[in-house]
Amino acid sequence: MKTLHVDLAERSYPIYIGECLSHESLILETLSHQEIVIVTNETVAPLYLDVIKRPLVNAGKKVAQVILPDGEKYKTLDTVNKIFDVLLAENFSRHVALVALGGGVIGDMTGFAAAAYQRGVDFVQIPTTLLSQVDSSVGGKTGVNHPLGKNMIGAFKQPLAVLIDPSTLKTLPEKEFSAGFAEVIKHGVIQSAEYFEFLEQNLSTIFNLDLTVLAEVIAGSCEIKRKVIEQDETEQNIRAILNLGHTFGHAIETTMGYGNWLHGQAVAAGVIMAADLSARLGRIDSALVQRIVALTQASGLPVNCPSEMTPDSFLAAMYRDKKVQSGTLRLVLINSLGSAEVTDQFDSALLGETLEHFCQQAKAS
Ligand SMILES: NC(=O)c1ccc[n+]([C@@H]2O[C@H](COP(=O)([O-])OP(=O)(O)OC[C@H]3O[C@@H](n4cnc5c(N)ncnc54)[C@H](O)[C@@H]3O)[C@@H](O)[C@H]2O)c1
Ligand SMILES: [Zn+2]
Repeated sequence: MKTLHVDLAERSYPIYIGECLSHESLILETLSHQEIVIVTNETVAPLYLDVIKRPLVNAGKKVAQVILPDGEKYKTLDTVNKIFDVLLAENFSRHVALVALGGGVIGDMTGFAAAAYQRGVDFVQIPTTLLSQVDSSVGGKTGVNHPLGKNMIGAFKQPLAVLIDPSTLKTLPEKEFSAGFAEVIKHGVIQSAEYFEFLEQNLSTIFNLDLTVLAEVIAGSCEIKRKVIEQDETEQNIRAILNLGHTFGHAIETTMGYGNWLHGQAVAAGVIMAADLSARLGRIDSALVQRIVALTQASGLPVNCPSEMTPDSFLAAMYRDKKVQSGTLRLVLINSLGSAEVTDQFDSALLGETLEHFCQQAKAS
């Protein structure tokens, strides 16, 4: 078992990476509460609900479950309300702990419900997708989508603990595994050339789901995210570098309709677009862009935007994204492998060139 500690004063918490699901004493120590509500979805419940629920029930706790429909399109306020329905109908007090058992969609909604129920209750993340294990379960961003914008309704709410069991990835569809890997690549690009090289060198072992190497990949990503979050918990400045590729990616997700492009797929294309723009601006050379493209492509991820997108649809969605401050578009740009920054200082004509280039390329292919 690997343990990392996210140090955020009274909101500090551990991240455990290893055989968490079969570790009953870890589950019981983490969830010492008398009242527990496990939130999961129709796909994950048959796989992993029992193994979490059984030790808690056997310990004599009051345990309920909420099984939500599966999919990004259900990441809405209406769905979060179903969690409140169970909490209130079954008289759960403010001493309840919520457990998010599933991918990023379940984690984001459960965290948001925990932030709001009786003005805040504890919650524990048990992420079961690669994306949620390397990214969304750590850092305390929670929330839901609105038809006009991705993740526009939300709260910062740090979990009490994160329990990551890489063996859950054995049941994850390969497309979803790839999608999570987009955030892994992003972490290397923004913070660590060494980690990026490790990914390049171990790609086939990683995609063969070798549990030892997977634990290293997950720990490496959590470590990168931990360091960034400890400097800037609520994204006043440096934390925004974690959004590399996301302004482009959110534009793709919003324009295409939630769920048609997986978040990770949209981010993969977005990272390439941000790299392309960084090269046009003379910040990096085209060899680095090609290296990122090669790793992304070898991971089964898109390196282009959808053919339905136009420069105008990108700009409209990008200006609505929450990274826009008082009408100025801020983007994460790459300085070198392992270093990125957020800036509004770029030639918008070159952004136009990037958008034209990708939209034309998408239509041609
Ligand atoms: N809060 C954050 O900081 C943050 C960061 C990145 C992404 N996100 C959000 O995360 C969401 C994407 O998360 P995701 O990629 O985990 O998607 P997801 O939660 O939709 O899960 C992907 C699919 O895998 C299924 N699944 C989950 N675990 C499984 C398992 N072990 N075996 C088989 N199937 C399994 C799910 O039911 C779903 O169908 C997006 O909404 C995105 O905005 C949040
Ligand atoms: Zn993301």
